[in-house]
Amino acid sequence: MIVSWVTMDEPGSSEVVYWKEDESSVKKYAHGKHKSYKFHDYTSGYIHHCTIRKLEHDTKYYYEVGIGHTVRRFVFTTPPPVGPDVPYTFGMIGDLGQTFDSNITLTHYEKNPRKPQALLFAGDLSYADNYPNHDQHRWDTWGRFVERSVAYQPWIWCAGNHELDFVPEIGETQPFKPYLHRFHVPFKASGSKYTPQYQWLKTELTKVNRTETPWLIVMLHSPWYNSYDYHYMEGETMRVMFESWLVDAKVDLVIAGHVHGYERSERVSNVAYNIVNKQCSPVKNQSAPVYLTIGDGGNVEGLANKMTEPQPEYSAFREASFGHAILDIKNRTHAHYSWHRNQDGYPMEADTMWFYNRYWHPVDESRSN
Ligand SMILES: [Fe+2]
Repeated sequence: MIVSWVTMDEPGSSEVVYWKEDESSVKKYAHGKHKSYKFHDYTSGYIHHCTIRKLEHDTKYYYEVGIGHTVRRFVFTTPPPVGPDVPYTFGMIGDLGQTFDSNITLTHYEKNPRKPQALLFAGDLSYADNYPNHDQHRWDTWGRFVERSVAYQPWIWCAGNHELDFVPEIGETQPFKPYLHRFHVPFKASGSKYTPQYQWLKTELTKVNRTETPWLIVMLHSPWYNSYDYHYMEGETMRVMFESWLVDAKVDLVIAGHVHGYERSERVSNVAYNIVNKQCSPVKNQSAPVYLTIGDGGNVEGLANKMTEPQPEYSAFREASFGHAILDIKNRTHAHYSWHRNQDGYPMEADTMWFYNRYWHPVDESRSN
C-alpha cells in the first residue's frame, strides 16, 4: 500500500505508523521519502510517499502520518487473498476535477450501497491546468478534496492529458512533473523501469493468470470506441496498435475517460483490416472487451452533449450526465456492472449489465441480440 501526503511548512517525518485493528499494542513503522518541486512561481510542500509492505490480506489497519500535534489517523482494509471466486467491488471515476459537480460525484460514490472497495481512476484528476499558469495550488486543493475517500481505500490512476502540465511559455518543459511528484503507482510491481508502454503492455498481458485473477481490466484515458462529437477518434492510433492484443488476451472490459459523458459499447473489434481487404468496420466479437467511457466525473469543462448521429451499432448505451460506475465482481464468471447518475438517488442504477467473464464464461451477454 502506498501512502502519500503533503506537509506544507516542514518536512517532518516520512514515516507511517500502522497497526492491525485488533492489535493496537503492536505498532509497526514504514519509512518513506519526501521530495518537492518548483513550477513557475510555485514551490510545492514536502510530498511524502511511503510504501507499507507485507500487509495481511482482508485486514483492517489503522495508520498515522505526521509528527507531534500534526498527527492524523486513518484506516484502510486490505484486499482478500487472490483466488478464482473472490468477490471484490471496484468503483470507476474519470475526469473528476474539483467543482460542485465533482463533489456530488464523490458523494454519490461514497454513498453507493454496493460499497466499492477500491477506485479505478481513468485519468484527468485536478484540472489545475485550466487555471492561470497551471495554478499548482489546484493540485493541493484536489488532494484535500479527495482525501475523504482516498485516505481510506486504494485509488489507482492512469494519466490523462490534463496531467501533462507542459508549458514552455512559462519555462515548464518537463512533461507530467506535478503528476509524477504527487501520484505514485505500483509500476515496480510489474517489473517496469520506465519501460516503453507497448513493450510493457505486451509482456504484462501474457503474465495474467486467469485462474488466480479471472477478471482482466484495462484502463486508459482516451477512448477507442466513442460516438460523441468530442475527441472523436483521438484514441485511434492507440487502438490500431493495441486492440488485437486485448482481443487475444480476452480482456473483459476497458475503462476510459476523456469524453465528458457516459458510454458503454457492445463487444466489438476492428482488427481485420489489412489496408486492401476493406474490412475496416467494427464487428461483433465475443473475445473483445466492453469499452466503457466514464469521463463524466464533473470537471470544470462541463458535459459533452453532442453525439454522432445516428448512434453507431457498436455503441450500446450513451448519455451525457455526470456520474460514476461500479463493477461488482461476484465470482469467476459473473460481475454486476452499474452506472450511477448524480441526478438520481444513491442506489439508482441508470445503466446495468451482467458481465460474463471472457475466459471462464465467454457467452454473449448483450441484450441487443
Ligand atoms: Fe482528458
